[in-house]
Amino acid sequence: MNIRELLNEKVLTAMAACGIPADLPALIAPGKKAGFGDYQANCAMGAAKAMGTNPRELAAKIVAALTPELEGIADKLEIAGPGFINIDLNPKWLGHQIANAQTDARLNIATVNAPQTVVIDYSGPNLAKEMHVGHLRSTIIGDALARLLEFQGHKVIRQNHVGDWGTQFGMLIAELEEQLGANKDGEMALKDLEVFYQQAKKHFDDDIAFADKARSYVVRLQSGDTDMLKLWQQFKDISLHHSTEIYKQLNVTLTDADVRGESFYNDDLAPVVKELQAQGMAVESDGAQVVFLQELADKDGNPSPVIIQKQGGGFLYSTSDIAALRYRVKTLNANRIMYFIDARQSLHMQQVFTIARKAKFANENVSLEHLAFGTMMGNDGKPFKTRTGGTVKLAELLTEAVERADKLVRERSSDLSESEITEIARKVGIGSVKYSDLSKTRTNDYIFSWDSMLSFEGNTAPYMQYAFTRVQSIFRKAGVTPESLQSEIVIGTEQEKTLAIKLLQFSEVLDQVAREALPHLLCTYLYEIASLYMTFYEACPILKEGIEPEIRDSRLRLCHLVARTIEQGLDLLGIEVMERM
Ligand code: ARG
Repeated sequence: MNIRELLNEKVLTAMAACGIPADLPALIAPGKKAGFGDYQANCAMGAAKAMGTNPRELAAKIVAALTPELEGIADKLEIAGPGFINIDLNPKWLGHQIANAQTDARLNIATVNAPQTVVIDYSGPNLAKEMHVGHLRSTIIGDALARLLEFQGHKVIRQNHVGDWGTQFGMLIAELEEQLGANKDGEMALKDLEVFYQQAKKHFDDDIAFADKARSYVVRLQSGDTDMLKLWQQFKDISLHHSTEIYKQLNVTLTDADVRGESFYNDDLAPVVKELQAQGMAVESDGAQVVFLQELADKDGNPSPVIIQKQGGGFLYSTSDIAALRYRVKTLNANRIMYFIDARQSLHMQQVFTIARKAKFANENVSLEHLAFGTMMGNDGKPFKTRTGGTVKLAELLTEAVERADKLVRERSSDLSESEITEIARKVGIGSVKYSDLSKTRTNDYIFSWDSMLSFEGNTAPYMQYAFTRVQSIFRKAGVTPESLQSEIVIGTEQEKTLAIKLLQFSEVLDQVAREALPHLLCTYLYEIASLYMTFYEACPILKEGIEPEIRDSRLRLCHLVARTIEQGLDLLGIEVMERM
């Protein structure tokens, strides 16, 4: 139980003892200003209003009932302003809490009481093309949430909804067949998907016979022709392998087993359309099957049309998404489905959710969330592109990040071995790209900047990783292991107290991040920890001559919990730490 939960329980008990109706909230919040309590209970005002009494008098009654409840936990309860109850926590109690967290494998963070089955739809590159920066945000934000929810004890099912179906695959497999016939092997032909795609496209545009073949291949592919399926499978495998390499490089937990591409739902598409027709939702319009959604009507009252089957029979992106949603509820038993997809697909997601609800593919107990994100911009304020205006390949971007980090690491330190530098550069480079993204409010656009993401100052990966290494170096200097420290933790100074309380708020922050899918809140929290740690470090000497061994050990234990919190926090973001840098 974290501090907020504990205080909530105690204050509710005290409120009940004062005859306050049980449905009124305790309203616990961390203290906003120094000197106004470490925490506040803001329940008295609302309760007094509901009961028609004086708020300060009611606050006094609550305090009287609360004082014995908080024996040993809080030192001082004070009423301020119109009836705020300020709670000062007891340093000895805080010391015990810190000690419990410091020695516990999970930092004393309990798993959730009611684990959910959470389906997370993220990454989803199109296999026809190289993975580009457009897929970066979905991949790393989705992965952070998958890690976090798993840590909290939920059952997480990752779903990589790759684009592996559609008309362009006719052209691509026709091209692949020709190149294989010209004695190239698949790996070689598809070494650069971008180049391959352009070759295929040019071939298609310039050569009528090839274009006809490509078109006939789509038809054969879609009707299940085994030769076509074989070529298609080969194309998919190689392309997917490119993505898997990127996931590894990015320290993203997606594996081949998480792939459920659009094609996975092929057999479900006709039944889904049929079901929507049976329910009177899908109607024929110009030969196509369309669902008209009055719920999403424009401002003139025209319903939003969703085509689910084209004239001629083809299915669409929407159809597979509806089928996927149905599968996730029916077969995967999801309680919560989280989609990490670009904000530009908002209408699409709304349409899919609305249809799924109306058709009862998902009832109200299933939470459907489109967790949209903004665009990654270049320095010019336009969507991030190469200098010549092309799309930036993710593989190249990551290579550049590691190269830049390598240079930085070399400039800063002289006593690292070559293999250490390589390892550190990889962690710093990849960590920087990820952290700079994760630390921005998800829903906003943001500007991609090498200089700011690789800075050792401010809310960046290198700063956080450096804060971690500083603690490691203190332990090296002290010549002790954290496990050997047995002394009591003494919270003796203001700096120690502030830091201790912040450290104990870790699980509160994780709860909020999990609820709102906003990893930047975790970054902000870690940054605050690192900053409070610096303040503490300056004010509270540790290894200095004349410091009592008990105080030294107590402070070392606090340092250790700082490092473990940073390490755990970064791990949930998919970012690695190192002993030295
Ligand atoms: N392949 C899609 C794209 O690149 C993203 C897939 C997102 N997931 C989904 N269920 N629609 O735009």
